[in-house]
Amino acid sequence: MLWSALFLLSLLPGLSHGILLEKFQDLKRNKFDFVVIGGGNAGNTVANRLTENPDYHVLVLEAGGSNENVLLSMVPKFCVETIGSAIDWNYTAQGGPVLNRDMDYPRGFILGGSSSVNCMIYTRGTREDWDRYANVTGDSGWSWDNIQPYVRKNERFTPPFDGHNTTGEFDPSVHSFDGMNSVTLSGLRHQLDTQVIQASKAVGNDSDFRFVLDMNSGNHLGIGFGQSTVLNGTRSSSATSYLGPQYINRPNLHVLLHAHVTRILSTGTAKNDLTFQGVELSQDSGATVHTVSATKEVVLSAGSIATPQILMNSGIGDRKTLTNLGIQTVHHLPSVGQNLTEQPLLSYNWVVTANDTDSEAARNATLAAEQLKQWNDTRSGPLANAPGLDLGWFRLPANASIFEEFEDPSPGPNTAHIEIQFVNGGFSLETPLPNLIGANPALLCPTSRGFVALNTSNPFDHPIINLNLFGSEFDLFAMREGIRNIRRFMTSPSFDGFIVSGGINGTTDEELDKLIIANVGSAAHPTGTAMMTSRDADWGVVDPDLKVKGVRGLRVVDASVLPFNPTAHTQVPVYIVAERAADLIKATWD
Ligand SMILES: Cc1cc2nc3c(=O)[nH]c(=O)nc-3n(C[C@H](O)[C@H](O)[C@H](O)COP(=O)(O)OP(=O)(O)OC[C@H]3O[C@@H](n4cnc5c(N)ncnc54)[C@H](O)[C@@H]3O)c2cc1C
Ligand SMILES: *[C@@H]1O[C@H](CO)[C@@H](O)[C@H](O)[C@H]1NC(C)=O
Ligand SMILES: *[C@@H]1O[C@H](CO)[C@@H](O)[C@H](O)[C@H]1NC(C)=O
Ligand SMILES: *[C@@H]1O[C@H](CO)[C@@H](O)[C@H](O)[C@H]1NC(C)=O
Ligand SMILES: *[C@@H]1O[C@H](CO)[C@@H](O)[C@H](O)[C@H]1NC(C)=O
Ligand SMILES: *[C@@H]1O[C@H](CO)[C@@H](O)[C@H](O)[C@H]1NC(C)=O
Ligand SMILES: *[C@@H]1O[C@H](CO)[C@@H](O)[C@H](O)[C@H]1NC(C)=O
Ligand SMILES: *[C@@H]1O[C@H](CO)[C@@H](O)[C@H](O)[C@H]1NC(C)=O
Ligand SMILES: *[C@@H]1O[C@H](CO)[C@@H](O)[C@H](O)[C@H]1NC(C)=O
Ligand SMILES: *[C@@H]1O[C@H](CO)[C@@H](O)[C@H](O)[C@H]1NC(C)=O
Ligand SMILES: *[C@@H]1O[C@H](CO)[C@@H](O)[C@H](O)[C@H]1NC(C)=O
Ligand SMILES: *[C@@H]1O[C@H](CO)[C@@H](O)[C@H](O)[C@H]1NC(C)=O
Ligand SMILES: *[C@@H]1O[C@H](CO)[C@@H](O)[C@H](O)[C@H]1NC(C)=O
Repeated sequence: MLWSALFLLSLLPGLSHGILLEKFQDLKRNKFDFVVIGGGNAGNTVANRLTENPDYHVLVLEAGGSNENVLLSMVPKFCVETIGSAIDWNYTAQGGPVLNRDMDYPRGFILGGSSSVNCMIYTRGTREDWDRYANVTGDSGWSWDNIQPYVRKNERFTPPFDGHNTTGEFDPSVHSFDGMNSVTLSGLRHQLDTQVIQASKAVGNDSDFRFVLDMNSGNHLGIGFGQSTVLNGTRSSSATSYLGPQYINRPNLHVLLHAHVTRILSTGTAKNDLTFQGVELSQDSGATVHTVSATKEVVLSAGSIATPQILMNSGIGDRKTLTNLGIQTVHHLPSVGQNLTEQPLLSYNWVVTANDTDSEAARNATLAAEQLKQWNDTRSGPLANAPGLDLGWFRLPANASIFEEFEDPSPGPNTAHIEIQFVNGGFSLETPLPNLIGANPALLCPTSRGFVALNTSNPFDHPIINLNLFGSEFDLFAMREGIRNIRRFMTSPSFDGFIVSGGINGTTDEELDKLIIANVGSAAHPTGTAMMTSRDADWGVVDPDLKVKGVRGLRVVDASVLPFNPTAHTQVPVYIVAERAADLIKATWD
């Protein structure tokens, strides 16, 4: 994209707030009440809530650098450009045996973690998602009704940057206006928005594509206006909100950047006393190693990839696998890194007659520069919106043949199997680039599972990430039906004069399978690699209070604990998990 050329201007002058330490030597102490590993989506949330108690000293260790004045992270429309940039871990994932190819696998390498690079879509999951979490963990605290206080603590609904009247675009009664993290509707009425919403209102209330006023009410089925974590045209992340100017100066909050954690250390002295209070880190790829300690708890919030990696490097994992790598097993816990769950996502481009797509700026460097100047001057214009616009959520029909072989993997009858992500712009090799939009299907409740494993015993090497996409026939079936359904909607009469042509021609199962396998990517929503299970389960990694099974002093708080993908984008479920985790931790120690 042409915007990339403008990233030379990527550092804005600006005032920095608060104390973000760069060097281990600048830490005033090496003992804290809590040490949080990973200043990401979850980690910063926990750190903010724990430091509400002035007696608790909390250290956040973040491998990446500061988010301040990083244009790539601040400008909503640039989220996709963060992939492969200086603020990405640059992981590579194996697609698995069906895909038989690798893909880039982005994760934020910056304060705020993936909340500083994601595409900002705000979705909570459905009532049925959370009731299933409560059910499988045996802890009613995870039910939809019981997580509502945490939804409210997290969310601050704000007007869109253009200040337009949002009546009819969302349901205020299901939103919070006084939480931490800004959520908003898109500014600038886009032709795509108008067309999609009109079409969904036209198809009628019996249709899968009916209009839903607010998809975050607990029942998401239908098509509606997307909401995103943006504030006044700028990204709102865990770093800008939970570590914002009003919190970062707390004297008991300590944040060390460029701090790569290598291992968590058992400090128990008696035999079989597995108390994990030590944390080992390095700021120079292992040349110099430092240790800090947590007198109360270590909170591991490094995300679904690095959390299992750090556990395994620390000797917590499957004994046989660790032994093969020459790592001494401290605690045999075979579920670590297993059951990786990821949602496949396919680009389904459409050439449109609209003249306000992002394709315009992708073709025209002058226009791209004008848009960036407009954003820089006034935090408005096309770059002030996230790329995702409306979203749709629909189920496979109850009589679909696949249910003869497979139990329905969705959490209940009011939850979608397939999401449609309507996006402004798209990718094409055609020149000149046509005006494109995407109506992209994602499979929300995949039945296949992958894994994260160590490749070597060096904590600075990337782990093996195997997504095993379409490792189950259900998943391929659902994706095919997703394409067919989207085609049905996009060719409905309301789109006449707007849609010129669609980017997927296949019709038979064989044609569609071939196309899916060749082109599918991931939604970047990994979960499950440090799964939360009931206290009496003989598998899983953490108990419902997020304590690592069989050891003391260590909790996992991030996307890796979710036992299923939520039928949603994952940042909001992560905020909810982290808000509740902070309450669980406080309840232990207050
Ligand atoms: C490109 C992209 C687009 C996305 N789009 C959306 C979207 O639109 N909406 C949505 O809801 N979700 C989206 N997601 C998913 C969502 O952002 C993540 O699920 C969520 O942010 C994960 O939160 P987390 O706390 O588990 O991990 P993270 O936020 O990734 O935090 C982990 C932190 O730990 C740090 N870390 C890792 N290893 C170490 C170590 N060894 N030592 C010290 N620190 C370490 C990392 O640098 C990072 O800061 C997207 C993700 C990506 C990558
Ligand atoms: C990811 O790749 C980019 C581009 O090569 C590089 O600048 C960046 O440092 C890499 N990220 C990490 C964490 O090494
Ligand atoms: C979980 O759901 C099943 C099936 O609906 C029900 O039988 C069981 O009692 C539930 N378990 C818990 C702990 O809620
Ligand atoms: C917004 O629009 C609604 C319905 O069209 C109207 O009732 C309301 O008064 C408007 N609000 C403002 C602040 O103009
Ligand atoms: C669909 O339902 C909404 C309210 O539930 C109603 O206002 C609208 O008129 C209905 N549309 C159709 C086409 O029946
Ligand atoms: C966002 O913009 C509104 C309206 O201009 C302003 O009142 C508010 O202070 C801004 N918020 C922040 C955090 O800048
Ligand atoms: C993976 O999850 C399934 C339940 O979905 C469970 O039965 C199995 O034991 C888990 N595997 C591991 C290694 O934890
Ligand atoms: C874009 O399209 C709209 C409506 O279709 C039209 O009013 C407008 O003049 C067009 N703008 C340009 C620059 O072509
Ligand atoms: C490119 O954008 C500029 C600024 O909006 C405009 O003046 C110019 O006509 C555009 N060029 C083309 C080829 O569309
Ligand atoms: C952004 O604005 C600052 C002044 O606030 C200016 O120095 C900088 O050059 C501008 N950058 C761009 C790309 O317009
Ligand atoms: C499912 O039911 C619908 C009508 O409700 C019917 O049109 C369709 O053919 C059925 N599909 C299958 C696979 O039986
Ligand atoms: C694993 O390590 C080997 C040997 O260093 C290397 O060739 C390979 O690329 C690594 N695999 C991954 C997934 O990083
Ligand atoms: C789809 O088919 C049409 C007509 O045969 C062809 O022009 C077009 O290139 C095809 N598109 C794709 C993406 O294969």
